[in-house]
Amino acid sequence: MTASPNSKTAVRGAMMWFKADPFSVPDDSQMADCVTYESDGLLVIEDGRITASGPADVLLPTLAEDTAVTRFENKLIMPGFIDAHNHYAQLQIIGSYGKQLLDWLKDYTFPAEEAFSDTAHAAEIADLFCGELLSNGTTTAASFCTSHPASVDALFHAASSRNMRIIAGKVMMDRNAPEGLLDTVETAYSQSLELIERWHEKGRNHYALTPRFAVSCSPEQLEMAGSLRREHERLYVQSHLSENLEEIDQVQKLFPNRTDYLDIYNHYGLTGERSLYGHGVHLTPAQWQDIKERGTGLVHCPTSNLFLGSGLFDLKTAMKAPAIPLALGSDVGAGTSLSMLTTMGAAYKISQLQGYAMNALKAFYLATLGAAKTLSLDAYIGSLEAGKDADFIVLDPSATPLIKARLEPVSSLEETLFVLMTMGDDRAVAATYIAGKKLYSKNSSN
Ligand code: GUN
Ligand code: ZN
Repeated sequence: MTASPNSKTAVRGAMMWFKADPFSVPDDSQMADCVTYESDGLLVIEDGRITASGPADVLLPTLAEDTAVTRFENKLIMPGFIDAHNHYAQLQIIGSYGKQLLDWLKDYTFPAEEAFSDTAHAAEIADLFCGELLSNGTTTAASFCTSHPASVDALFHAASSRNMRIIAGKVMMDRNAPEGLLDTVETAYSQSLELIERWHEKGRNHYALTPRFAVSCSPEQLEMAGSLRREHERLYVQSHLSENLEEIDQVQKLFPNRTDYLDIYNHYGLTGERSLYGHGVHLTPAQWQDIKERGTGLVHCPTSNLFLGSGLFDLKTAMKAPAIPLALGSDVGAGTSLSMLTTMGAAYKISQLQGYAMNALKAFYLATLGAAKTLSLDAYIGSLEAGKDADFIVLDPSATPLIKARLEPVSSLEETLFVLMTMGDDRAVAATYIAGKKLYSKNSSN
């Protein structure tokens, strides 16, 4: 009898993940209790899942002798990052000069999205996007496609070929945009329905109803989105909320019968669990309270808010108990980087401008387990606990000579993470694993 081949593999090195929410502890000095850190850890993987994680000296003796163990020296293994709001079709307009939201949409964004009527172009950009996510250590993303159904097929195909977990959907927009991007209530309904049937919860794909924002969606279209949501289980909703003051003014004029911007989405049943609203920069106390009560997800997109001059997200209010479900988003192409390290660094600066210094542990929580909870995906992703998908990354604390020099005298995990989010980007990502498979390696000798 021949022995069956050993399907287990393992990864060994320093590793960390969150077991609790560092925003929930009364005092910052207790945040370390929210983290599991192993200076010499082992992650055991089988069939794409983590079957065990913990100290290497405890777990190594439990493995069969022929188990392949990959060792990472002087690196830090952690759960893959989650980018909870971006627009893959906007990759080619990152860094477009001189406009704020509404003009930026008109002058740069809509023309770039019109090009996605070309299926080959959509496939090319979707492929580039997934590759860039991986080289930035992002293993899960929620992305807006365009109003063209083929743009959704292109992204789900590109993600599926890498086995990446993706939340995405066809943008719905039936007014206030160029003809080439507009749909109608009827076409948005039938196209979304077809895409849901084709992709929702197939493999690691999740469908998100994606009404662009209240400016570009008629009341009838939002009503239709609400009814589609009621007809299908576990669909996501992703949209934009209170990003820019002019936008808010325009929304108020377009929906004179609704109390405010948030009330529109509430009215059409588009909030609560599994809803992801980008921005929320200009919220009133009543809106904050409503978001907390309904558990509506917000996605803070700091590089975008700075780049478009939209305003400063109030992280302290968001996370004051009871905290809202929050995640971080690159919001590329208004955001200027796909790196969640850079995104965390920008979130820190925005909170500093409001007198609140966000600790690095909180930032990394928001990019991993916190985001997974906001996405209702924490049973699968967000930490390195046994039972979760083996989506993880390997960070390099000596990624550049300057980061290496900065970290030479540093021994604390918290400070190491802070320096990585302040100085790091894709250069600090040594490797990215999806479902236990190494799909990206900065240095092919890894
Ligand atoms: N609001 C509506 N559409 C968009 C978009 O594409 N990007 C951003 N940042 N805000 C939006
Ligand atoms: Zn956006």
